[in-house]
Amino acid sequence: MDYGPAPESTKEAQAWLDGHERRFGLFIDNAWTPASDTFASTNPADGKELAQLTQAGSDDIDRAVAAARRAQPGWVAMGGHGRARVMYALARLLQRHARLFAVIETLDNGKTIRETRDADLPLAARHFYHHAGWAQLQSEEFADYRAVGVVGQIVPWNFPLLMLAWKIAPALAAGNTVVFKPAEFTSLSALLFAEICQQAGVPPGVVNIVTGDGRVGEAIVNHAGIDKIAFTGSTEVGRLIRKATAGTGKKLSLELGGKSPFIVFEDADLDAAVEGLVDSIWFNQGQVCCAGSRLLIQESVEERFLAKVRARMENLRLGSPLDKSMDVGALVDPVQQQRIHGLVESARAEGCTIWQPNCELPATGSWFLPTLITGASTSAAVAQAEIFGPVLVAMSFRTPAEAVQLANNTVYGLAACVWSESISLALDIAPQIKAGVVWINTANQFDAACGFGGYRESGFGREGGKEGMYEYMTALSEDARPALPVVEAKGKVSSSESGSVFGIDRTAKLYIGGKQARPDGAYSRAINGAGGAFLGDVGEGNRKDIRNAVEAAHKASGWAKATAHNRAQVLYYIAENLAIRADEFAARLAAMTGAKNPEKEVQASIERLFYYAAWADKYDGLAHQPPMHGITVALNEPVGVIGIICPNESPLLGFISLVAPALALGNRVIAVPSEAYPLAATDLYQVLDTSDLPGGALNIVTGSADELARTLASHSDVDAVWRHDGSAEGCAEVERLSAGSLKRTWVGGGKGRDWYDTKQAGGRAVLAHASQVKNVWIPYGV
Ligand code: NAI
Repeated sequence: MDYGPAPESTKEAQAWLDGHERRFGLFIDNAWTPASDTFASTNPADGKELAQLTQAGSDDIDRAVAAARRAQPGWVAMGGHGRARVMYALARLLQRHARLFAVIETLDNGKTIRETRDADLPLAARHFYHHAGWAQLQSEEFADYRAVGVVGQIVPWNFPLLMLAWKIAPALAAGNTVVFKPAEFTSLSALLFAEICQQAGVPPGVVNIVTGDGRVGEAIVNHAGIDKIAFTGSTEVGRLIRKATAGTGKKLSLELGGKSPFIVFEDADLDAAVEGLVDSIWFNQGQVCCAGSRLLIQESVEERFLAKVRARMENLRLGSPLDKSMDVGALVDPVQQQRIHGLVESARAEGCTIWQPNCELPATGSWFLPTLITGASTSAAVAQAEIFGPVLVAMSFRTPAEAVQLANNTVYGLAACVWSESISLALDIAPQIKAGVVWINTANQFDAACGFGGYRESGFGREGGKEGMYEYMTALSEDARPALPVVEAKGKVSSSESGSVFGIDRTAKLYIGGKQARPDGAYSRAINGAGGAFLGDVGEGNRKDIRNAVEAAHKASGWAKATAHNRAQVLYYIAENLAIRADEFAARLAAMTGAKNPEKEVQASIERLFYYAAWADKYDGLAHQPPMHGITVALNEPVGVIGIICPNESPLLGFISLVAPALALGNRVIAVPSEAYPLAATDLYQVLDTSDLPGGALNIVTGSADELARTLASHSDVDAVWRHDGSAEGCAEVERLSAGSLKRTWVGGGKGRDWYDTKQAGGRAVLAHASQVKNVWIPYGV
């Protein structure tokens, strides 16, 4: 027996489109501009035009930004409760018009009505409810923060309304106003949302919606009146945005592509895993950034599992997205269909086996059959590139260690699924996977209370949950940062090829892998004191030294696995050993900087070490209770290897203030001490040697801050770079170069910090830079 057709009515949606004469302008300051310079938005299931949309020009962006700017103080002044009420009204209206939204979304995107009705809409509404709550609680929970200001938000076409909710809800809750750009293929639900904003009492200018292609996105990214960019889309465009915003001071969050592994162990419930796989790779035709597109199966069950997968694929129903019984709808656009076709055909040409169910494609529209690829090498394009279609690439593994190795064999790190009936095995694998989300015995679950976002080239920043709120706020202490005069480096570089310089006592070497090392180039830099007297030489580190330090840092991976208690103990021990030699350090600081009260800096450094030692075992994660039978554990994992360019002001305290929090959370560090006053850091070698810090956890390379920062920011095995030496151009360069491997950056720009002020020095907020949240979804109470 087959299913009969069960089409959803489009009457209301067509009436809505007709009501706008199928021509839409932009939504700026709560009013519609006349449609101009229009382009067609079509239904990918039948290729028919739905409406004409406006390609916004730069004047339009100016007006939208100006409206958002004007509106922002008033939106903040409404207070958390005022904003919460408006957001609650938005959530209610989304629910009230849920069916209209679902149909519009299905018409515009091609995804099935089953998904828009049961997933996109409820999740979008839940996002506004949840964030109405954060608005309400803002003054209590985020008392040390303010809204960033005007936010530019750019989203893709795969979840048009849901991505809008993910972007707009936290931004509004925190008191920002937005200029939002939907994807050019799928703008209609955002335009319908604009009407909902009018009905919900969103004040003019708080939400502005501008349509158009990538050029509109670029204009938003480059607009000087925008304080933050939040982007979801391809890694390629994410990289462009990282470069374009470098040095502008704009806050940035990027949610980019993925190639997520779906790991099936031999003891998994195979039938449940097959259903999980359907949700993972055939949900939304695989056009999902966290789609489980790489199936990794334990060899012993490979054939059995693949047979089940093929049988299930034969039962997937593909056809009219408006038919309530369809599982697979249309692709968003023929361009995507051609792209996917190209990738699959290249796999065929390389000798892979391509399997597709026996199913007829509709005569018109943009479609692709669910596809299973086997026999691909781990380096094949289909195994590495984000296909963004209903295409699954299957591979096998023998041991759990091999599964982890294959899972992490990607530049991405967005999500992963682990299927096993053994809780010990699943919970042993989850922490080893480099991904922002791990689903255990489930797939593609989302909730507004749980953060979502990637590791590595899947981007940075989180959406959802408390961590997502911080992306839309600025710490008040940032506003108080002084415009300190930048201290010029004074050291003169000289050759020491004869070896004599490094033979004498007063020459500090580099500190790599827990040992003092001569700099590769055999150059040194003379450091003169406040009165001009020669104090000593330090090694002039170069590219090779950084490479050695990065290698040593990677070898010290045990530091990330050390217990928090153990890391705290080491930091306390460093503090204790520093205290024993406090006079010596004070004398060194006085000689270098001419400080009148150098003891104060040493004591503050000791206290700072205590501060981050204290946090080491208290910066715990959270346990969320999403509306499913499970819990989501949000864990603060170390970022990995962090390069830190330390400030010239307060050379000891600045160094400790940055290095200690990074170490406290299990990162390994390559620190470039103050270029002008490096001796306080090089004097630490002996303190470190006697403090049980494992070799390679902290490496110190002295020399030119610019050159070393450049090398760190370009190094593909460095996960993050922090620069806080007050060099605006240097910070911009770090951000620009970080685009290569999409490193996390934390830069101070051209401003200084009062390093004695714990909050200004970074306080608790540094810990967020020193960690990335992994959300692990675990069955619980099922
Ligand atoms: P895209 O990254 O080009 O587009 C996403 C959004 O960015 C759209 O609103 C677009 O207009 C805008 N945009 C494009 N160029 C821009 C620029 N230079 N500056 C600012 N905004 C810009 O993605 P596209 O072309 O739609 O899809 C291409 C591929 O990207 C897909 O096949 C898929 O592999 C990947 N992708 C990944 C997504 C994810 O969620 N991770 C979402 C969409 C696409």
